[in-house]
Amino acid sequence: MKFFIDTANLAEIQEAHNLGILDGVTTNPSLMAKEGIKGQENINAHYQAICHIVDDNVSAEVIATDFEGMVKEGEALAALSPKIVVKVPVTQEGIKAIRYFSDKGIRTNCTLIFSAGQALLAAKAGATYVSPFIGRLDDVSQDGTELIAQIVAIFSNYQFSTQVLAASVRHTMHLIQCAEIGAHVATCPLKVITGLLNHPLTNNGLQKFLADYAKSQA
Ligand code: E4P
Repeated sequence: MKFFIDTANLAEIQEAHNLGILDGVTTNPSLMAKEGIKGQENINAHYQAICHIVDDNVSAEVIATDFEGMVKEGEALAALSPKIVVKVPVTQEGIKAIRYFSDKGIRTNCTLIFSAGQALLAAKAGATYVSPFIGRLDDVSQDGTELIAQIVAIFSNYQFSTQVLAASVRHTMHLIQCAEIGAHVATCPLKVITGLLNHPLTNNGLQKFLADYAKSQA
C-alpha cells in the first residue's frame, strides 16, 4: 500500500519523507491556498519545491474545465518535473483529457470521484489513479469505505492497471479499512499517518522499560 500525504505544507511533507514511508503527495487548489501560494508562477515553483523533497508521485491539479484548457495546463504541469501526476476532475471534458494524457504517457489522478461509475470511466480512459473521497461521503451519511471496496472489486474483475487512491482520509480507521480492502494508495494528513503509532500500552510499556533500566543503573 502506498502512502501519500495530502498537503501542500513543505515542512509536513519533509517530516513525512523523513519517516521513510512516503510514496507521494496530493495537493488541490484549496490546499495550495491554505499555504498562501498565489499566482501560477508561485504555484509552479511550489510544485517544484515539493518534487525536490519526494521521490515521485506529486499530484498537481488543473484549474481549466474545458478539454483544451486542461490539456494546456496539464502539459505545462507535467513539464515541471517527471514526478508530476496531472490531477483532473471526473467530468466529460476531464475524461477526454485523461485519455489524451494517457495516450501521451502523462500520468493522471482522476479526482472528485464519488461513485463506482465515475471510477470505471476514468479507468477506461487510462487514468493512473482514481481518487474516491471517502471522508466527504461519510460527511453525507454514505459509507466511503464501501465505495473503495466496490471500485477495488471492479478493477480487479477486469485487471485494470488503474490504482485506487483513497482520498479524503480523515482518521486512522479509514487507513486500516482501506488497507484491509486492498486500496493501492491512501492519501491523508501527516497526523493520520503518525496516529497509526498511538497506543497507550506502547507508551506505558516504554515508560516502564526506561524506569526499570534507570533503576538497574542506580
Ligand atoms: C485528494 O486528493 C484531496 O486533496 C483530499 O483528499 C480531499 O480531502 P478533504 O475532503 O479532507 O478536503
